[in-house]
Amino acid sequence: MPDGHMPIKPAPLVDRFGRTVSYLRLSVTDRCDLRCAYCMAENMTFLPKKDLLSLEELQTVAEAFIRRGVTKIRITGGEPLVRKDIGALFQGLGRHMGAGLEELTLTTNATLMTQHANQLVAAGVRRVNISLDTLNPDTFRQITRRGEFDKVMAGIDAADRAGLTIKINTVALKHQNADELPEMIKWAHRRGFDMTLIEVMPLGLTGEDRYDQYLPLFEVRDALEQRWTLSDEASAPANAGPSRYVRIEETGGRLGFITPLTNNFCAGCNRVRVTCTGRIYMCLGQDDHIDLRAALRDSADPQAALDAALDRALFAKPERHDFEITAPDERPALPRHMSTTGG
Ligand code: GTP
Ligand code: 5AD
Ligand code: SF4
Repeated sequence: MPDGHMPIKPAPLVDRFGRTVSYLRLSVTDRCDLRCAYCMAENMTFLPKKDLLSLEELQTVAEAFIRRGVTKIRITGGEPLVRKDIGALFQGLGRHMGAGLEELTLTTNATLMTQHANQLVAAGVRRVNISLDTLNPDTFRQITRRGEFDKVMAGIDAADRAGLTIKINTVALKHQNADELPEMIKWAHRRGFDMTLIEVMPLGLTGEDRYDQYLPLFEVRDALEQRWTLSDEASAPANAGPSRYVRIEETGGRLGFITPLTNNFCAGCNRVRVTCTGRIYMCLGQDDHIDLRAALRDSADPQAALDAALDRALFAKPERHDFEITAPDERPALPRHMSTTGG
């Protein structure tokens, strides 16, 4: 520095419990082309487009997080690839790769992946998480209420061909896929994909009984251990997020378990979520949030206003979620759907 001053490095995002937030999940739309029965109702009312942050505003928000030490951004939805011109956001954020940002990624249902895979790679995306709950086309139509299985398979193939590392996310469902899980694991591992199983979470009304869908993952793990040798991956780092991984000797692949209902993982939480309307949700399982839109639109100094909003958000980050599915699920724990915050 010519005058001997060091630039002031913006403070990292540390909450009251000493957890450092290094991971932003940024939802770009609440819309989706599917209606998975555990996620959405058949007839969903989506936000009017005028309520959404523009792609430029989403980028400004993401950059505020990068300045404060966020190194990983996951673009989510709804289904992120249904947002018009979404490629521009990936390109814009991709410019920060290697300059603050270490990973840019997305969670998708893959229905539109054939159109997007190559440009995602060009923007700097290296890994994708793809949601898939069955390998049976009829069951797929039932679960998604409208999806075309072949389109998703073509999307997975396109992502694979483009060189993306793929993780398959599968929500464990008592009646619809419990029997099929070993076959799905074999399929994923044969293709070189990691796979993660997820417990159904009580978020938003779906018109279905989640209590009836819910399958505790310790039961799945017990059943898998009857047929395969599972070894826990070396202890997860403190800020590893919710998934706990095992390696399966016989398939040679990795399997993750996300167990919000049966085994709480919040002590290692490293993430916050921003919705497509610019709300920061500090926890997937709580309703506390802080609105960034005002900071972004109404302030004379948006950067300072965003920074102040991030400080308030971190201070208010709750210690843990308290999900429960103990009775027929007439009222979910939270009114908002997973598609509001992107999981
Ligand atoms: P990696 O970056 O590969 O670790 O991904 P991830 O598992 O964090 O992200 P992904 O989008 O694949 O998330 C899978 C699902 O895990 C989400 O849809 C949520 O259902 C669940 N999940 C992720 N983070 C949290 C969390 O902080 N709390 C809870 N309860 N569930 C979470
Ligand atoms: N409980 C658990 N997982 C859910 N997902 C959507 N809604 C729910 C829910 N209520 C999953 C999707 C996808 C990820 C983003 O979240 O299947 O894998
Ligand atoms: Fe869409 Fe994902 Fe929800 Fe299914 S789970 S309806 S693919 S957002």
